[in-house]
Amino acid sequence: MIYKGLPKNFLWGASTSAFQVEGAYQTDGKGLSIADKRSFKKSDQQLDTKVTVDHYNHWREDVALMKEMGMKSYRFSISWPRIFPNGDEVKPNQAGLKFYHNLIDSLIENEIEPIVTMYHFDQPYGLIEKYGGWVSRKSVSDFIRYAQCLFDEFGSKVNYWLTINEQAVLVVAPDMLGIDLTLPDKERYQKAFQANHHMWIAQAEVFKMCKDRFPKSKIGPAVSYITTLPASKKSYDLMAAKELEDFYSFAQMEVSIRGEIPIYFKNELSKMGINIRMTSEDEHILREGTANYIGINWYCTTIVEAKVDSSQNDFIFKRIERVRDNELKYTDWGWNFDPVGLRYGLRQLMDRYEDIPIVITECGWSQEEQLVNGKVNDQMRIKYLDKHIEQMSLAIGDGVNVISFNPWSFIDLLSVGDGMEKRYGMVYVDRSNFEEKTMKRYKKDSFYFYQDVIGKNQ
Ligand code: BG6
Repeated sequence: MIYKGLPKNFLWGASTSAFQVEGAYQTDGKGLSIADKRSFKKSDQQLDTKVTVDHYNHWREDVALMKEMGMKSYRFSISWPRIFPNGDEVKPNQAGLKFYHNLIDSLIENEIEPIVTMYHFDQPYGLIEKYGGWVSRKSVSDFIRYAQCLFDEFGSKVNYWLTINEQAVLVVAPDMLGIDLTLPDKERYQKAFQANHHMWIAQAEVFKMCKDRFPKSKIGPAVSYITTLPASKKSYDLMAAKELEDFYSFAQMEVSIRGEIPIYFKNELSKMGINIRMTSEDEHILREGTANYIGINWYCTTIVEAKVDSSQNDFIFKRIERVRDNELKYTDWGWNFDPVGLRYGLRQLMDRYEDIPIVITECGWSQEEQLVNGKVNDQMRIKYLDKHIEQMSLAIGDGVNVISFNPWSFIDLLSVGDGMEKRYGMVYVDRSNFEEKTMKRYKKDSFYFYQDVIGKNQ
């Protein structure tokens, strides 16, 4: 399959994150993260983070498969508690650093560009116990120290950095920040949005540090971008879609790219009665530290309508209802297949940020799968990839500066919400939720499809 209009040197890649693939949850000095703790609460229902697909011990084999598939980039994350087990140590854990040196060196030897996320949902649990994690401003300096260490160690090898994965998801699912979900709405969101502010400050400082030290490198956030569509042609549904998309996705991009917190975002917080503690320096810090590219995690569209009693509710997520479009296909977990939404979303990014380089850091289709005679016939994933690549190439033809595509995921992994039966990979791993089985890797049909795409579109 040949797609028109793709630039030369386009980075065809794939994506994973540390706690979803590595396992080895306490090996070589690694500390526990909030992602570990959160997964242990459901250990009796589904796979937890302890072993997952054991990439920590299979990484050589996994890189060989990336090479065989033809990947030009690999977007993965560094486990924060592998480097600073409790988060507050003065010196980093050498064994953790060694693991990532080996991985990064091997990727580079194989001509695969590392795209490295610093923090993908796994803040060291020690920091949550010590001072409440991101809810406290103290997390800012601990994150900066961690980033500084990553730049010292890997700054000369890594050209593409991502600071924080899906900050908006952390805010809407604040147990991922260690915030008690049984707290009343207002109290819970007061904490979550304060944490959000601290992440913005930490991220801005890290953007600046990277640009000062490594001016040729690229650094940005990995934003959860859900193209949000109105359920009807009525202006109030259109407005509901706009409000939600702006609040959830674009506010994150505005702060990262323009260094300013949008007024509509501040207004929503005050409607909810949330007061963010800020210092007199904060606006300056945000303005001084901005991203020079952007990662977007794009899976599907969401369709919304305004609730009838919308004016009564001060909380945005309660004013807006998500609806299902029965003409679209959905995964078993309710994520739709709507590829034109990707082109539309990319065009919106160009409208706002002109030619900022965009890396698609996640995009993928999940399903339950069986290995049959050593094969996995994942036709729906192939269709998903084909149609989304097609729409991405049309967007590039429209002038959008997409430089890399990294579907989620390279290999089967632990789904954040749904364990091991919800598979995303182009490589199948022989394990189930509760049985480790052989852990053998098998190339799915989508592996061969994507290999062909990469081979023919260089
Ligand atoms: C993104 C995350 O939100 O969605 C990934 O960055 C995650 O870590 C992916 O795996 C899919 O979500 P889930 O819950 O199906 O794993």
